Amino acid sequence: MTPATSLFSPVEADLQTLADNLKQLVGKGHPILCAAAEHLFGAGGKRIRPAIVLLISRATMLEQDITPRHRRLAEITEMIHTASLVHDDVVDESQMRRGVPTVHSLFGNRIAILAGDFLFAQSSWYLANLDNLEVVKLLSEVIMDLASGEIQQGLSRFDSSISIETYLKKSYYKTASLIANSSKAAGLLSEVSQETAEHLYSYGRHLGLAFQIVDDILDFTSSIDTLGKPAGSDLKSGNLTAPVLFALEEKPYLEVLIEREFAQEGDLEQALCLIDDSQGIQRAKELAEDHAKQAVDHLSVLPPSESRQALIKIADYVLSRPF
Ligand code: IPE
Ligand code: IPE
Ligand code: MG
Ligand code: MG
Repeated sequence: MTPATSLFSPVEADLQTLADNLKQLVGKGHPILCAAAEHLFGAGGKRIRPAIVLLISRATMLEQDITPRHRRLAEITEMIHTASLVHDDVVDESQMRRGVPTVHSLFGNRIAILAGDFLFAQSSWYLANLDNLEVVKLLSEVIMDLASGEIQQGLSRFDSSISIETYLKKSYYKTASLIANSSKAAGLLSEVSQETAEHLYSYGRHLGLAFQIVDDILDFTSSIDTLGKPAGSDLKSGNLTAPVLFALEEKPYLEVLIEREFAQEGDLEQALCLIDDSQGIQRAKELAEDHAKQAVDHLSVLPPSESRQALIKIADYVLSRPF
């Protein structure tokens, strides 16, 4: 799965090193857990989070090369993300990830949970070894946020009364927190001012929200071939995302279908039709666009550079990505 690689061109060589290092880093632990982790890192992914960390590193180190700590931070960011996916796929009972069968579908839930824990633990260890307390605090908060986001989502299944604000808060925990805090941490490793660090955080926060909203739209608009899961999977499992929440305002009958958890024949299909017939997807797109635009505004704090330009383009890519 190669994303718009030209998008990451200023850090393409860095990302290659990262891919090699990630396999090596996880290759040191227990053989079975490693097999599971290897499997995922081998499959790759879009690597958008480490690309952002590396681009911010480069954009804030224009006079000198980035340091091994910047590189390690990018690796830790991808490790934390991958760990969260291994656990998420257990919770969501998803069969495919990154174009390959999920860890739990190959090795069972027990191994998948342990493999995820192992990756989280290993990322904490590498994090501590960065010897930068502020960065340690930022990234360990992310690990708490990820768990808290999954819990919030689990507790609000089929709850049609949740607001867009609640949805965005949950999306911050699940997705935006990692991008926001790792963006800020990259700046801190370059010793930027506190003010610049806050702008980098906000860039990551808004970009992360846009990313999750688009992910939630893709769950409705993509096919099983591109996404690796059937369209409407989120809705079916009671995960009510932006398109549904907006559609609910126009189509009150959706609430009936959701509250009875699509128990009757044809309920899910009818719900999907109602959403399709509403402004839900369109309004969700506008919300994502708004966040992507806000993300870009925060980049004006950085001096112009090829890397800053790439960070701006990532905001566009997030809105138009195919998977
Ligand atoms: C998937 O993230 C999980 C979400 C936060 C929506 P990505 O779409 O970045 O997954 P990979 O890393 O490319 O596999
Ligand atoms: C992503 O959530 C998982 C985390 C960020 C922890 P989703 O459930 O929306 O992502 P996909 O659709 O499985 O990739
Ligand atoms: Mg999932
Ligand atoms: Mg999920």
